[in-house]
Amino acid sequence: MPRELLNDLPRRVTIVEVGPRDGLQNEHGVVATADKIHFINLLSAAGFPVIEATSFVSPKAIPQLSDAAEVMAGIERRPGTRYTALVPNRKGMERALAAGLREVAVFTGASETFVQHNINTSIVGSIANFRPVIEMAREHGVRVRGYISTAFGCPYEGRVAPDAVLRVANELIALGVDELSIGDTIGVATPNQVVEISDLLKSAIPVERLAMHFHDTRGTALANVLAALDCGISSFDSSSGGLGGCPYAPGASGNLATEDLLYMLDGMGIETGVNLAAVVEASHFLASKRGLPPASRYYAAATATL
Ligand code: HMG
Ligand code: MG
Repeated sequence: MPRELLNDLPRRVTIVEVGPRDGLQNEHGVVATADKIHFINLLSAAGFPVIEATSFVSPKAIPQLSDAAEVMAGIERRPGTRYTALVPNRKGMERALAAGLREVAVFTGASETFVQHNINTSIVGSIANFRPVIEMAREHGVRVRGYISTAFGCPYEGRVAPDAVLRVANELIALGVDELSIGDTIGVATPNQVVEISDLLKSAIPVERLAMHFHDTRGTALANVLAALDCGISSFDSSSGGLGGCPYAPGASGNLATEDLLYMLDGMGIETGVNLAAVVEASHFLASKRGLPPASRYYAAATATL
């Protein structure tokens, strides 16, 4: 009897590197603009298909990324890499277009309290704010991703009903977003939940338009990737070194580390086009500037000396 497990997984995966945004938005110390630029250039050299480079949000909300325009002006844009940034409203979109972005991401959530804390409005209010963003995007031929945070659990409300995720997903798709990224903002998801939500979303939305965004707070992120792969999902967000968190989600730790994700995908023969050694180099550079070792398990093993 042939084994069914792991037999029919996607052969190619798109990794969206979110370290420069999700990671650096959460820094306590200041990372100099020139260092961010060098970090992103090293990530580009690693061959990522997509890098989320910064956010065009309120500098009062996220002072760490108030240099978004300078970062976008300073990086070398590698052909073959798409550069994207968070945009919460019309003002953010105007700034993103002025910085030459060809792709942006709007972001809301599946739980009201988190959305209120994060972007100072309700879920309905956030979607109203995205309407002009998406109109401007269409006008300029800009691709739009839509994040749904707290899809697996909320720091304020606890467990989130899968139906709440589906409702927001349908609204974002109806509004015109090209791809959805389903966020485990505080890293509480377990693989059974991933299968439940993936199957539910797939009943309404083509699987090619779904991505997963796991934080590794409780060590379940890689197991969750495997569950999502098994559901046919082939786009994953991760951050080099495991940088990250969300300043409006107490207890959130870093994203799934890109090195750990790549090690697993490489070992399984799943193509990504990303060079693992080059990601370690980028993490090493940033760690030297932060004065902190990366959380990535692969990074620790790869850089250990006898
Ligand atoms: P607000 O205070 O309600 O906004 O903030 P407002 O429209 O009333 O404007 C207030 C001031 O902000 C005004 O300036 C605006 O011009 C300015 P003032 O007149 O006081 O001088 N402003 C802006 N400035 C620059 N760029 C803008 C912008 N918009 C307004 N785009 C707002 C609402 C959404 C702007 C604010 O709450 C905000 O920027 N929040 C961002 C929060 C954030 O970035 N959180 C982290 C990212 S989400 C995340 O990490 C989750 C994710 O990783 C997935 C997952 O893990 O689940 C994506
Ligand atoms: Mg995140």
